[in-house]
Amino acid sequence: MSNLIDPHGGNGLNALLLPATERAEELQRAKSLRQVPMTSREVSDVLMMAMGAYTPIAGFMGEADWRGVCQDMKLEDGLFWPIPVTLSCTRDLADKIHIEEEVALVNAENGEILAIMEVTEKYSPDKQLECEHVYRTTDPAHPGVDKVLNQGEVNLAGRVSCLSEGEYAKQYPDLYHTPAEARALFQQNGWSRVAAFQTRNPMQRAHEHLVKIAIEVTDGVFIHQVLGKLKPGDIPAEVRTRAIQAMIDNYFVPGTVIQGGYPIEMRYAGPREALFHALIRQNFGCSHLIVGRDHAGVGSYYGPFDAHHIFDTLWEGALKTRPLKIDITFFCNKCFGMATGKTCPHGDEDRIHISGTQQRAMLAEGAPVPKEFGREEVIEILREYYRSLETV
Ligand code: ADX
Repeated sequence: MSNLIDPHGGNGLNALLLPATERAEELQRAKSLRQVPMTSREVSDVLMMAMGAYTPIAGFMGEADWRGVCQDMKLEDGLFWPIPVTLSCTRDLADKIHIEEEVALVNAENGEILAIMEVTEKYSPDKQLECEHVYRTTDPAHPGVDKVLNQGEVNLAGRVSCLSEGEYAKQYPDLYHTPAEARALFQQNGWSRVAAFQTRNPMQRAHEHLVKIAIEVTDGVFIHQVLGKLKPGDIPAEVRTRAIQAMIDNYFVPGTVIQGGYPIEMRYAGPREALFHALIRQNFGCSHLIVGRDHAGVGSYYGPFDAHHIFDTLWEGALKTRPLKIDITFFCNKCFGMATGKTCPHGDEDRIHISGTQQRAMLAEGAPVPKEFGREEVIEILREYYRSLETV
């Protein structure tokens, strides 16, 4: 018997990856089907379905689910779901596909067939409506909005059977845990109250502090990072995973954290995405999600604590994973240590804040990074990365 929280929907995990024994034959069959190219976001969604991270959904959403999710954060059957999971294509291609036709879903970047889908519905979503509700903006400069506005005009919906775990599983064999594998790891460690730390950044001291606050009040923390596509300027996963490992090896008590990675692509939808991150972590068995300042935000589209407040708008039973809401964290010269907006009475002039842009400039120029901000072992890995960029 597991002491971990149940997956979303209450009926166990729903991983859509076909058993290994069936994959080769199905892949052969898929080659003869009509091919539908997928963007990187759609690829990441298929991989998330394959591993069971999107339990309980069984494929790409039809119009009723899409509309309910955008407007009310509910699937047609009333189950909580905060972000649309949709597959788009051009009108030309959609016109050729008939209802009940099976199509092969292909990674447009490398031609790999990842899944077979039986098309049950075709519809044209109102992109403005989606962006207004999900992203709270229709500004094409927002990277998530940009992808919605540039996707095909027609959405295809249907059940998906996955044929592959994709590249990340091979690239990061030690970090790539399915929800079932993560749950098994937590159980082996005797953890039942597990906090997830979602991140797309190498860990600096502010992140370290957030994770250590969570360790104090749970059995352990799952440092769970994005392996999918990021926006230009973000540190690639290969470098970030090493930087995070350096932080874990040097500054954490063994057995208090587990590092993992998952194939999501950031949408940068701020508050809505914070809810999505929590739902996904419920599937991974995490009772809590650390939600700090401007979680999953970008630029200044969201208030620093909008992602905290949105959890208070949910109805009873929507979500089992609880947010661990933490104020902005920093080193304060007067406190002479790490603190948060809630625990430090001093002013901004005493707090060490370095923006991502400033940090990148320091690292690229070889300028010293204050030890109050970053750990030496982490900074060294990042420096090496920026040096390698210069020599390209
Ligand atoms: S993201 O998914 O939110 O984009 P990111 O790596 O930027 O990932 O942040 C990881 C988590 O740390 C988020 O919950 C974010 O709110 C939180 N966070 C990052 N920096 C700070 C900070 N200085 N103070 C408080 N929370 C922070």
